[in-house]
Amino acid sequence: MKAEPFEPLRTEDGSLTLVHPAFGESYSSRYGAWMQANELYLKLTQTHQHPSPRVLEVGFGLGVNFRATLENCLQRGVCLEYLSYEAFPVSREVLASVEMPLSVAARKVWARILEGWPAAPGGSLCQEGAWGRLEVRFEDVTQALFPNGWATAVYLDPFSPKVNPEPWQPGVLSKLFAAARGGARLATYSVAGGFRRTLAAAGFTVRKVPGIGKKAWTVAERPEA
Ligand SMILES: C[S@@+](CC[C@H](N)C(=O)[O-])C[C@H]1O[C@@H](n2cnc3c(N)ncnc32)[C@H](O)[C@@H]1O
Repeated sequence: MKAEPFEPLRTEDGSLTLVHPAFGESYSSRYGAWMQANELYLKLTQTHQHPSPRVLEVGFGLGVNFRATLENCLQRGVCLEYLSYEAFPVSREVLASVEMPLSVAARKVWARILEGWPAAPGGSLCQEGAWGRLEVRFEDVTQALFPNGWATAVYLDPFSPKVNPEPWQPGVLSKLFAAARGGARLATYSVAGGFRRTLAAAGFTVRKVPGIGKKAWTVAERPEA
């Protein structure tokens, strides 16, 4: 994997993202990094209304989805459990360079997470407090074990299938199905036909929904048992 530098990109809602030097794609949508996290991952999975959300994420990246979810849970006074997988973590400095419009309370939690962010890749990061718990496992999702019947929401957020095909493989989608609880929703930006058929074959009920601008998104639900 090619080392830094990452190219900064100001997205259309004013929030920052970075372009990965090896994958050649930005970590979040060019239409709005903060908007995408709040309006799509958070809301399409109905995490913004869940009384005790447990989010499983593929690709922690710059922690934008985590911070949007944290902010929402702090505002609602609900406890968040967030488990994310990241095979190619950025350094603490890179993570700290991508600021989001957080409340004072969320900023404090994020500052502690940055302090605990490992200097070298490997293992996992675990932080908890009155707000809930974050675990980032620095693993490749194709090899990783997921908890069984655990997640109320799945944020499937690798780079695109074209440049980063591994996390979109049938084996990973089946593991995500097993990791989801009945009624859990998965959200992602790919609407590729083959990918959606594989999601359905894994057991999900799959829909195309309006996403950003003219771009549709995929929402998949694990039916109640
Ligand atoms: C689009 S970015 C994720 C953005 C992130 N969700 C956020 O809110 O900032 C995709 C992430 O997936 C990670 N990734 C790519 N392949 C992976 C794999 N096989 N296993 C785990 N993570 C992977 C990349 O390193 C990258 O950080």
